[in-house]
Amino acid sequence: MRCIYGPRRSFPFSPSPPGPIDVIPPSSSSSSSSSSSSYPSIDQSSRATKVSSNGGRMKDKIAIVTGSNQGIGYHIAHQIASGGDFAVVILACRRMDAGRNAADEIARTLKNVDDDDDATTKRCIVEAMELDISNPTSINDFVPEFVRRHGDTLDVLVNNAGMAFKGSDPTPFGEQSRPTVDTNYRGTVSITEALLPCLLRGGPGSRVVNVASRSGALRILKSNDRRRLFTHPENVEAITATMYDFVREAEILGENNSYANTNYGMSKCGVIAYTALMSRLCPEVGWSAMCPGYCNTSMTSGRGTRPAAAGADTASWLATTDDVSAYKSGGFYADRAPGKPERRPQPAIVANEINISS
Ligand SMILES: NC(=O)c1ccc[n+]([C@@H]2O[C@H](COP(=O)([O-])OP(=O)(O)OC[C@H]3O[C@@H](n4cnc5c(N)ncnc54)[C@H](OP(=O)(O)O)[C@@H]3O)[C@@H](O)[C@H]2O)c1
Repeated sequence: MRCIYGPRRSFPFSPSPPGPIDVIPPSSSSSSSSSSSSYPSIDQSSRATKVSSNGGRMKDKIAIVTGSNQGIGYHIAHQIASGGDFAVVILACRRMDAGRNAADEIARTLKNVDDDDDATTKRCIVEAMELDISNPTSINDFVPEFVRRHGDTLDVLVNNAGMAFKGSDPTPFGEQSRPTVDTNYRGTVSITEALLPCLLRGGPGSRVVNVASRSGALRILKSNDRRRLFTHPENVEAITATMYDFVREAEILGENNSYANTNYGMSKCGVIAYTALMSRLCPEVGWSAMCPGYCNTSMTSGRGTRPAAAGADTASWLATTDDVSAYKSGGFYADRAPGKPERRPQPAIVANEINISS
């Protein structure tokens, strides 16, 4: 098994893979492109089948859901933990008090459901761990701590953590660009890259699900030249360079930049392009991006028309389905169906309380 993967991360804030998991060094032999590195295969034979305290076997799958102390991420974590296939679900949150409360709450509901059964063999461990995806130090701390607690194998990473300036926020467009791209695009890419060695050890069923948005549709871009940068990127660095070219232009020209009138949309456009690219560069892992719809969460100040649990459903399904006829790596999904973000645009998401238009 080989993962032909892009070059070493060049953006300065990308964490270098931390010690304990840095066992997949770039090979000296490069792939067909001089800008790519290849990684040797990962031996999955050492993966232990976990045995519960009463000696019964339990499924040993592990999932991490970022930004899961509230909103859509909370429900994704809950749905995955309730599914019965995972031994551990980690709520990776930047506020540990909120993360612990959320983990306890999910664990309590699982306990209630399991009360009539042999809970020892069935119940999933739900645990909070500290992670701020916009902080490289936090990522560098998170990964070795994850390995120390749970081993070096990961089955599912759901990149749900994200932010959007409110429509009423007086911060100028150009000043919103960098924090939005830093969190939604760069943070997503950085934590994914840091955990990629663990995902590769997860074997062919391992998945990355990126919670994106239809706001990241290519139609937000002002020209075909700009669209091409997202449809034909050579490697991750190319997408990242495009994202920060947009940021630099936006900081100088505001909405008159040559890319788009939306910071949030740009950040999600980058995430969608990254997802499609990684499905080509690293086919050993399943990759998908999705839109949850306009959900009733803190991001939308409670104005979303969908319950957060309904918005979470497609991400949970993408993380867990073994229906190969319905799941295609690299795709963009909404309501469990593949499609282009352009389809069925939801103007409510674009113009409402979130400052997705800026
Ligand atoms: N709601 C919608 O209508 C909608 C539509 C399309 C896409 N989405 C996407 O869905 C995802 C979840 O959004 P939501 O509506 O559930 O929003 P939310 O309720 O505001 O939740 C966002 C979560 O992300 C966390 N987060 C933000 N920045 C982070 C960082 N740097 N590091 C770690 N965690 C961070 C937040 O942590 P704190 O609690 O500490 O702030 C929170 O847990 C986002 O990616 C969003 O862009 C939402």
